[in-house]
This record gives sequence, structure tokens and C-alpha cells, in this order.
Amino acid sequence: MRYLGLYHFAILYLQGASIHCVKCSNPSFSKRLRVKNFTPPNIPAIGIKKIGDVTCLPDRYLIQDYDPIKLNPKPQYTISDYNKSDYVGPNAKIDQDVIDMVQKMSLEEKAGQMAQIHAGMFLGCDGLLNITQIEYLIDTLKIGSFLDHTANQGGRWNINSPQRFANLTNTIQQIAINKGAKIPIIWGIDSVHGANYIKGATLFPQPTNIAATFNVSHAYHASRITAKDTRAAGIHWAFAPLADINQNKLWSRNFENFGEDPYLAGEMVYNSVKGYQGNYKKDRTRVAACVKHFIAYSNPYNGKDQEPRYVSENVLFEYILPPFQKAIEAGVATTMEAYGALNNQDIVSSKALLRKLLRDTLNFKGVLVTDWDEIESKVFKHHSAFNLEDAIVQTLGNGSVDISMTPSNPKFPEYITKLVRNNEIPVARIDESVGRILQLKKDLGLFDNPFSDPGLIDTVGSLQDKELAAQVARDSIILLKNERGALPLQTNENVLFIGPNVNSIRYLCGAWTMHWQGPSDLEGDDIYDGYGTTILQGIESITKKSINWIQGYDINGVKAHDYDDVLRAAQKADKVVFFFGEKPSTEIAGNINTLNINPDQQNLVDLVSKYTKAQIVLVLVQNRPLLLEKSSKYADAIVNAMLPCAHGGLAIAEMLYGKYSPSARLPYTYPKYDYQSSVAYYRPIWNEYEPEFAFGAGFGYNDIKYSEIRMNDTRLKPGKPVEVSITATNNGKLSQLEPVIMFAMQAVRREYSPERYKVRAFDKKLIEPGSSVEYKFILTTDQFKFWTVELNHVLFEGPIEVIINAGNPNQVNKWIYMDEN
Ligand SMILES: *[C@@H]1O[C@H](CO)[C@@H](O)[C@H](O)[C@H]1NC(C)=O
Ligand SMILES: *[C@@H]1O[C@H](CO)[C@@H](O)[C@H](O)[C@H]1NC(C)=O
Ligand SMILES: *[C@@H]1O[C@H](CO)[C@@H](O)[C@H](O)[C@H]1NC(C)=O
Ligand SMILES: *[C@@H]1O[C@H](CO)[C@@H](O)[C@H](O)[C@H]1NC(C)=O
Ligand SMILES: *[C@@H]1O[C@H](CO)[C@@H](O)[C@H](O)[C@H]1NC(C)=O
Ligand SMILES: *[C@@H]1O[C@H](CO)[C@@H](O)[C@H](O)[C@H]1NC(C)=O
Repeated sequence: MRYLGLYHFAILYLQGASIHCVKCSNPSFSKRLRVKNFTPPNIPAIGIKKIGDVTCLPDRYLIQDYDPIKLNPKPQYTISDYNKSDYVGPNAKIDQDVIDMVQKMSLEEKAGQMAQIHAGMFLGCDGLLNITQIEYLIDTLKIGSFLDHTANQGGRWNINSPQRFANLTNTIQQIAINKGAKIPIIWGIDSVHGANYIKGATLFPQPTNIAATFNVSHAYHASRITAKDTRAAGIHWAFAPLADINQNKLWSRNFENFGEDPYLAGEMVYNSVKGYQGNYKKDRTRVAACVKHFIAYSNPYNGKDQEPRYVSENVLFEYILPPFQKAIEAGVATTMEAYGALNNQDIVSSKALLRKLLRDTLNFKGVLVTDWDEIESKVFKHHSAFNLEDAIVQTLGNGSVDISMTPSNPKFPEYITKLVRNNEIPVARIDESVGRILQLKKDLGLFDNPFSDPGLIDTVGSLQDKELAAQVARDSIILLKNERGALPLQTNENVLFIGPNVNSIRYLCGAWTMHWQGPSDLEGDDIYDGYGTTILQGIESITKKSINWIQGYDINGVKAHDYDDVLRAAQKADKVVFFFGEKPSTEIAGNINTLNINPDQQNLVDLVSKYTKAQIVLVLVQNRPLLLEKSSKYADAIVNAMLPCAHGGLAIAEMLYGKYSPSARLPYTYPKYDYQSSVAYYRPIWNEYEPEFAFGAGFGYNDIKYSEIRMNDTRLKPGKPVEVSITATNNGKLSQLEPVIMFAMQAVRREYSPERYKVRAFDKKLIEPGSSVEYKFILTTDQFKFWTVELNHVLFEGPIEVIINAGNPNQVNKWIYMDEN
């Protein structure tokens, strides 16, 4: 009786308060959800080379030896596209067959669904799947989810080809559907800029580059291809995109997000979710997306990863929540909570954040997963729980987490069963989460076919995908300064190139590439195994002669040459191109104390500027905007390439040699001094905004002239949108992809000092030389609503200045008055 009572409570929990049990008596809803038991396709994974009698691999076994499979993808393919009118997103309610299934499961089986264990927990010392261990996890402990790839155990087992990965996941699925709870597992992975942990998959520029393109289709297509390559490996869940905005320039993870503007980030996040999930319930070439990190992860007060954040509620609603709202609007299937605390309270167990805000206010219905070890961290790091039982009671009791990413503690479910048996957690709370988890597995088609589709493997690394990645890279390179005709370079000029990242793919990619922190020094570029192009190769393919390159300093900016030799080479050059870089890193490993770069690097620029006549070009390939100091003055041209990754070497070379005109805009504020590290462009109107480069800065090689701004009305009123239009003319010689950003500023706002200006819309179009193109935007009063400290979303009247392309020399503006009603 008790069990039945709790079960009915569970249904109420699952379906919301307004439940009436019409569906329960309808036989068509009680169809049993069952896994079809068939064998996976056979995808041979050719074996590991044995060295003598040694079965256990040595540390850092080279990729070529570990997985010798070379991909041979089809150059072209077609897969179904996201189609709005055919789309079936996640449901608001749990399906009846899922509820029935939850009802029939034992408590141990349910608890097992709530744990996610790291891949390193079932690899043998030979680098292969250890069947004894995986069977123990699935059959005995009933674990329902795994994560990551096999190369993140100190880099020991290296990168799997999609074939080898599919062989691994298919073998595991076969065990999962025959043993334990007989439920397919779901595997999550950080496929964040391409399926970056799968050998040969197309590597895209990092998200900050995608934001710089101001082309939302790039966010969609990069995510679509990432999803396909991920699914080819038998993986159904990508931990992306980041909806955190760039708030503190020191923070090590800003390259993973879409810049500092909430609107731009929201548009990119929306399209990224659509790309990952496609026609969610029908399209078997896609995966579940996971928007992260909920919430306010990106604003540590001291810029260091996982450190405290203090954000008032109205500021949270104004700037931080909008990109998350866009993800939920796009139907994102899962969310990941953020490390640490907001306003002193642990996020993972917060009722205010994870139940009231995420579930009740933002209406998120899908699966919520913790970040790495966060429940355990309450005990071992945060000191906010006495023991693991206490941490779980707090987390499940008050928050709304469904899956605990508990990488190396497969005993997690045992704690849950014990707590339920001791009446410390109601079984209904467990059923609530398990219902959402099984619904996710069902929606992804795992109950129909949990195995990898060999047809998808043939598309991994396809030429058509690589061409797109190269195009995204081209569209993401920002030209910030260009004086005295420094750029483009001419092939007949004598150019000296300086910097360690000229001859490296890994220094173009950043972290989350091959390994969490990028390839190790020992692996170097070998790990790319021919996938990608360095800047050096790109330049030589254009100039058709061997490059004049000196490394000069190492990736940390430390002198690596006799600078007299470098100076002698520079004295013979017409132009010297410096590449500043940064070693791949993220999270705590990427913490820095200052945005200053090593003085050795600055000194070399200084020397070249003082003792040679060469023009200086500075190219930045960095994780974040490090301070340029005097190099900014010495450089005739400055290019910010950020992290364009494996196909970015060619894109940078082509840009430098004028093969195309650059078209990107800075998606964040580039600071001039350390104290500006938390300055975003939407400062209050009267406060200082004097960065090195403003948000939105960037131009091409062409002279683009803007017309006056046209508006189809003289007042802006609620319910009466105003059309804003402008014509851009290309007076240059190259065709120009031109992003036009419409900013607007409310010049007076009673009580609340308005922001300097804010992006309200943007569009990007191609303008051929000599021709003009019209851009049209919509201005509405909703764009000027803001959150008061009482958490009202209100509109105050005032004059509005519309500014097209603020921060650039060719900006134009026009005023309109906005009424409250
Ligand atoms: C995995 O590869 C091995 C070795 O080629 C093969 O014997 C096995 O059948 C494959 N398993 C699956 C599930 O594809
Ligand atoms: C989108 O789906 C609708 C409804 O199924 C269909 O009529 C239409 O042809 C599809 N559009 C494309 C471009 O596939
Ligand atoms: C596989 O796991 C079992 C149980 O933990 C262990 O005894 C065995 O040595 C492992 N095999 C390899 C190759 O690591
Ligand atoms: C935007 O990107 C898509 C591909 O992602 C491309 O087809 C389209 O031409 C791009 N638009 C512009 C204006 O660059
Ligand atoms: C949940 O939060 C409330 C305060 O809002 C607190 O009193 C209670 O102890 C918490 N419950 C658990 C299980 O931690
Ligand atoms: C201006 O254009 C917008 C968008 O097309 C339209 O909704 C609005 O009615 C127009 N206003 C006037 C006064 O024509």
C-alpha cells in the first residue's frame, strides 16, 4: 500500500499539479516501453600493436600506434535538416510508457540511472574495455550513464577513431540491454567545437570565434556536424553549448562562450541547440544538447575558475539568464548546473536556483546533470555537508538535479537506496528524476536502436564539413587596426614571421581538443595525425616559397632565441609579423593572475620597432584578450584570430595575404589595463569605457560607406515596432561579408542610469564590389524593458539613440523618442 501511495505521488510530481488520470485508463498509452534486443553492427576495431610481451600500454602511447584506423570519409553527404514545421521537441510531460517503466523498476535500478561514471573506470591496463569492470558497473551497480573519452586518464589511452569508439560504446550497449536494468546507457561527452575527442572528426573554431562571425548559421551548422560526428561514435549527448557570457576577461573559459553580449550569446545559443538537436525526437543524426553552466558561473569576483560569484537578482535577470532562456526556448533537452556557489549558497543543492528559478520560472522540463563531482565536492571542497549522505539529501531534497556526474564513485546509487529506505528522501523524488532520464533516452531513440549508425561513420571528417570549418575560421578573424597599408601582405614582399604558434596546430585550437587541456608537449602536433593545416603551411601554399620564420619566444612568451639574430633578420624584412599566443588551458588549469604577457615578448616587438624600418603586424591567437601594452602602439596592423583551430591556419594565411576581406567583429571588450578585466561595453552611460578595442570593433579591407539611418516612424511606442534600415555600399575591390550591428541607447532613464548602448539586432550580408545592400532591423519597446531591484520587468520612457556599428569609424546614428504607452 505504501508503495502504491508513493507511486501516485510520483505521478503527480512528474506531471505537475493539474493532473487528472485520463491517460492512465487509456489503453493506447500503456504500451510497454521495451528495448528491442538485437545485435549491434559489427564495426571492427583493429588491434593495438604489442611490444614484445607487454600487454599493458606504457604511458603516452602514440596515437598512430594506439588506433591506426585512418578515416576515409565520403567527401559529400546529405543528412536531414532541422525543419520547423516537422519539429518534435522535448515534451512538457513524461510519456505514460516511461512512467509505467519507472513503476516497474527496483529502487536499485532507479538509483543507478542517476549516476554518471567516467570512462576511465572500465578501461583495462591494455587500454581496452575491461569486460569484468563494465559488467560490474552495469549488472551489479546498475549504472545508467557514462561520460568523457578514454584519453582523459592522464592522456594515457589516446584518441579513438569513430570506429573504435563505436566498437566500445556498442559493446557496452549490448551489455546494458542484456544485463542489470536492461536499459540502454546514455553517454555524455564534451563535444564542444566539433567532436573534439574523436580522431579525425572536423574541428571547428571555438565558440568565441563563432560569435565573432555574427552569422548564427555557423553556430547551427558547427553544432549539427559536431552532433553527427559524436553520434557516429555511439554517443548521444554533448555537454554544450555554454550560455555563460564573458564577464571577467581573466576567466579561463571565455573562449568556450559566445562573448559578452547577452543578445548575441542568446542568438548563438539558440541556433547551437537547434544544430545539436535538429528534429529532436526524430532525427537520429543528432544528440541531446546540454546548456551550461546554470548559473552565473562566468563571473568569479577574482577571475579564477570556480571562485565565488556575487550577483544581485535583477542583474542576474538582466544579463545572465537571457542566453539560458534562449536555450530553453530552443527546446534544449538537458542542463548542467555550475560549480561552486552563487551569493554564498551552493548551486548544486539550491532550491532557489534549481527548483524555483530553473524549473518554475524558466520552465525547464529536461534532465539536469551536475558538473564534475559537485555533490561530493560539498563534502570534500565546499565544507557545506557533513558527509556524502548529507550532500545527497540536500541536493535531492531541495534542488532538482537528476544525474550526478560522480565520475569515480560508482557507489553513489547505494547511498541513494539507503537514504530512500531510511525515509530521508521520498521515492517520489527519485521517480521524478528517473522519469526525466528515461524520457531523454526514449526521445533520443535509444530504446529503438542504442547502437552507432555505421553510415554516419563514413561522414566523419568529410571534405564538405572541413570546408565549412575553414569558412567559419575565415569569417571569425577580426581585423582591429590597419595603418600605412600594412595589410594585406604582398607575395613579393620580404616578410619575417615570428612566434611559436606559426608552426603548430595545437596552439590554434585551445583546450577541449584531443584532451581536456589540449595535447601534451610530448604529443605535440603528432596527435593531429595529418588533420589540419598550420599557419606556416597556409602561408607557403599562398606564397609558393619557403617561409622566413623564427620562433623567437615560446608559447608562454619566454625568449627562445638570441634576439640579436632575430633583429638581424628583421632588418632585412619589409614587414615583421608577430604571433602572440597562449598555451591551451581551461578551468583551474587556465587560471592567471594578470592579463599582462611575458615582458620578453614585448621587448622583442620593442626592439624591432626601434632598430628596424619594418612595418609591424601583430596577430593574436589566444584564449583570452591579454594586454597589448606598447605593442599596440608599435603595430601598424592588429589581427585577433582567437582560437580558429585546425582549419584556421589556412584562414589566417589567406587573410594576411588578402585572399578575402575579413568580416568579423569583436564579441567582447578588449581591455587596455588589468583593472578593466570586468568591464563589459554595456556600462552605465556616464562611466568609463576606454578599452584597447570596443565590443563590435572590426573591419575589412574594403571601404564600406553607410547611408543615413531610415526609420518608418517618428515615435517608438509599445505594440508599434519601428523599422530601421540602412544601406551599405562597398567601394572596395574585394567582395565583402558585412555584419551590421544595430545598437541602441536610451539616453535618459529615470532612477536607473541606462547602459551606454546595447546590441538590439544584427545581420550579415554579402556586398560585391561597387554594389549596395540594404539592411533592415526592427526596433521595439520590449528591447528597452529592464529588471528593477523589485524584479519587475518595466519600460521607462526616454529618448533613444540608434547607433549602427558603434565602435567603428563608419558608425552612424539617429534619434527617436520612446513612449511608455
Ligand atoms: C569490436 O572489434 C573487435 C575487433 O575487431 C571485433 O571482434 C568485435 O566484434 C567488435 N565489436 C563490435 C560490437 O563491433
Ligand atoms: C518540412 O516538413 C514539412 C512537414 O512534414 C514538409 O511538408 C516540408 O516539405 C519540409 N520541408 C523541407 C525543406 O524538408
Ligand atoms: C579488469 O578488471 C579486473 C577487475 O577489476 C581486474 O582484475 C583485471 O586485472 C582487469 N584487466 C586489465 C587488463 O586491466
Ligand atoms: C552564414 O553561414 C552559412 C553557413 O553556416 C552560409 O551558408 C551563409 O552564406 C553565411 N552568410 C553570410 C552572410 O556569410
Ligand atoms: C532545504 O532548504 C531549507 C531552507 O530553504 C532548509 O531549511 C532545509 O533544511 C533544506 N532541506 C534539505 C534537505 O537540505
Ligand atoms: C514600420 O515597419 C514595421 C515593421 O515592418 C511595421 O510593423 C510598422 O507597422 C511600420 N510602421 C509604420 C508607421 O508604417
